[in-house]
Amino acid sequence: MFITFEGPDGSGKSTQILLLAEHLRAAGREVLTVREPGGTAAGERIRALLLGEGGAVEINPRADALLFNASRSQLVAEVIRPALARGTTVIADRFADSTLAYQGYGSGLPLDELRAVISFATAGLTPDLTVLLDLPAEEGLARKSGDGRTRFEEGFDAAFHTRVAEGFRALAAAEPARWRTFDARRPKGELADEIASAVGLATLRQ
Ligand code: TMP
Repeated sequence: MFITFEGPDGSGKSTQILLLAEHLRAAGREVLTVREPGGTAAGERIRALLLGEGGAVEINPRADALLFNASRSQLVAEVIRPALARGTTVIADRFADSTLAYQGYGSGLPLDELRAVISFATAGLTPDLTVLLDLPAEEGLARKSGDGRTRFEEGFDAAFHTRVAEGFRALAAAEPARWRTFDARRPKGELADEIASAVGLATLRQ
């Protein structure tokens, strides 16, 4: 099973992914967690470039889309598909929907063109279940400290992040069979329990 977590910056995805992975492992499942961009040797270098680690460089939104998808392509081929083929549950911290939300709704690139890039990069791999941790964009940004902030959090304005958050909601509404939306402001234990039961139900459906 391939599960992805999406949401605005600061929505608490990494904490919830850790808790879900622990829960599934305790139930006897093999679980692999990955993060985007990154997760492979090539992907980590692309990540450093994209997030401006070691000094931000100018990157236009189309180049952003291609770099995120180059990292994604490597991750799919090298890590995700082989793990799924072994029967491992893969949980990804961001996947293709982040390109649609950030480069599409955020930066204004056409969604159909981005979908073509994504389909090429992933060779058609789509998640079985996508968890949206929803919260107002400004609350997410406020949760992140100055040091932990990426080029996207520093370099784009509040309106950009609001469009991203709205974009995620629109994507979830358009494909309700794949998405489950949760209020990221809920206490983290309660949220973890709700996510675990949504994943349990989705597993039964498969
Ligand atoms: P994160 O590791 O904190 O999630 O940072 C990744 C940043 O990159 C985040 O601000 C979202 C952004 N991003 C995109 O703009 N497009 C993408 O396709 C992905 C995966 C992430």
